[in-house]
Amino acid sequence: MEKTSNISGFYKLSPAERLKMVKEFAELTEDEAKVLSNTGGLGMDTANMMIENVIGVVGLPLGIATNFKINDKDYLVPMAIEETSVVAAASNAAKMARLKGGFHTDSTEPVMIGQIQIVDVPKPNEAKDKILKNKEKILAIAREQDSVLVKFGGGPKDLNVKILDTDEGPMLRVHLLVDVRDAMGANAVNTMSEAIAPLLEELSGGRALLKIISNLAVNRLARARAVFAKEAIGGEDVVDDVIKAYLFAKNDIYRCSTHNKGIMNGIIAVAIATGQDHRAIEAGAHAYAAMEYYKPLTRYSKSKEGDLVGEIELPLAVGTIGGATKVHPAFKICQKILGVKDSREMAGIMAAVGLAQNFAALRALSTEGIQKGHMSLHARNIAIMAGATGEKIDKVANQMAKEGKVRMSRAQELLSKL
Ligand code: MEV
Repeated sequence: MEKTSNISGFYKLSPAERLKMVKEFAELTEDEAKVLSNTGGLGMDTANMMIENVIGVVGLPLGIATNFKINDKDYLVPMAIEETSVVAAASNAAKMARLKGGFHTDSTEPVMIGQIQIVDVPKPNEAKDKILKNKEKILAIAREQDSVLVKFGGGPKDLNVKILDTDEGPMLRVHLLVDVRDAMGANAVNTMSEAIAPLLEELSGGRALLKIISNLAVNRLARARAVFAKEAIGGEDVVDDVIKAYLFAKNDIYRCSTHNKGIMNGIIAVAIATGQDHRAIEAGAHAYAAMEYYKPLTRYSKSKEGDLVGEIELPLAVGTIGGATKVHPAFKICQKILGVKDSREMAGIMAAVGLAQNFAALRALSTEGIQKGHMSLHARNIAIMAGATGEKIDKVANQMAKEGKVRMSRAQELLSKL
């Protein structure tokens, strides 16, 4: 039987019941399920190996966004985040997208950029020509640094040079383009950039100063698209108002910053759950958004039928091998829940989640506002904290939300009366 992520009432289950369903969906072992339910999977010994001066481990809630259909495949999406409503909003948007087939994604080859800055170059134009003439020799040195990557079809692909006019005169910027396959790629790119620096110095007569990956991964883009049927989202007026909300962001940087923040709510939550370098993703996304002028990472339009068409494009440097995913057991298990085969599939999923998150925010903001949804979730949490279980959770929460009195003392009072 086909696996489905379209699970109604998932939010009403206990964490243990939800985990059981995810365990079946993703074919997790007993031990893997235990890692998620116990400690977040990171023991002190492993934590102590990962960074310096370790004193402990900080936990985050791990939620599952349901309903995602991406390129005709169903996914349960792990999201690690402290902010209320994000997981619910993504699941809800994914449900609305299902009516018209869900999300469709594509991504470019996973090509990252290594930057080598060359200063004190006596003749910049000549140096540029000389470097370009020796491109093959330079790429060969880079290739020698990672035979495994080359064996899997990746490795250095190209090189280009730009002369930058700075306050202290001209300097060269060399870009080394590396196909990093299923890795995030920073290690491979940084090693190659350092390895080619001596030859670049020799050819240019200058001094190679910085040798480091660029997080503006313009060659590693992920895109997602979904059609939200007007009848699923509240009618054609909602379609029009979501488009107006998007145009607000397109024409105003103050709004645009928040618009893009909402997108990153989803993307970063998946990035954290699956052990990606989320700082790199965030830096790349905003730099990409700002390439011409700071603009929204999503776009909206209306189809001939009057439905809402949502699209997103952004750089996503994500890996399914190497990095922290190798050592942190929970990251590995979250990747198993997603069932991704490579980094391009992972990037597509994250783009789809970003679009879902943004659509959910724009729809809420342009209809009832976001506080109502926040309040009812908050009320549920308070009801649970006051000791409500089963059906009593919703009874207490709904009453508190109705009265606008969402507090522990009121939850206890209502609970005692039930
Ligand atoms: C809150 O974390 C995110 C939103 O502000 C995004 C938006 O305004 O589009 C709701």
